[in-house]
Amino acid sequence: MELMEAIYKRRSVRFYTEETVDKATIEKLIKAGTQAPSAMNVQPWAFAVIQDKALLQKISDETKVYLLASISERPYLECYRQIFGDPEFHVFYNAPALIITLAKPEGAYASGDCTLAAQNIMLAAHALGLGSCWIGFAQMSLNTPELKERLGIPKEYTIVAPIIIGHPAKTSPDINKKEPEMVFWK
Ligand SMILES: Cc1cc2nc3c(=O)[nH]c(=O)nc-3n(C[C@H](O)[C@H](O)[C@H](O)COP(=O)(O)O)c2cc1C
Repeated sequence: MELMEAIYKRRSVRFYTEETVDKATIEKLIKAGTQAPSAMNVQPWAFAVIQDKALLQKISDETKVYLLASISERPYLECYRQIFGDPEFHVFYNAPALIITLAKPEGAYASGDCTLAAQNIMLAAHALGLGSCWIGFAQMSLNTPELKERLGIPKEYTIVAPIIIGHPAKTSPDINKKEPEMVFWK
């Protein structure tokens, strides 16, 4: 797939088939992530993968409980109160795989570097015919010390990008992208 086409056609995917994503493909996506630029070439990323459906369900359930309990600290999430209370809502949309990009405490731009890696993963997934979606809801819960410890994530690592991956069950709707606001062009 041509790069510009991938950039323009990638959409967040929230409906997945039951089909699993094989290990070689996930490795290929992570390798694509590591091709991202990073400040001073520090490459401050690490990755974790969850394909265990029961574990994804458990994290989804815990994420909703956590977000409901802490919603007063995040008023911008108020509009999601109802779905957080909905037992049917799965924060990972029943996707068969979750690739987590984690920032190591190295360099001055670890979070930005990892975001670039995450975008590579999403574009590469699209180029391979797979769907993806960054799950910010889980980013919040996964960064709690309790969940990090339980999952075996070093406490000095920060979860930057939990990205679900899978085979799209349907085409995502087009999204209106705003025209760029130009501050100046001297
Ligand atoms: C930092 C970040 C967090 C996001 N968190 C969520 C999320 O928790 N759940 C979700 O369904 N989509 C999430 N998204 C996807 C956005 O809703 C999506 O990118 C946006 O609506 C634009 O659609 P597009 O990705 O198809 O261009 C997130 C995206 C980003 C960049």
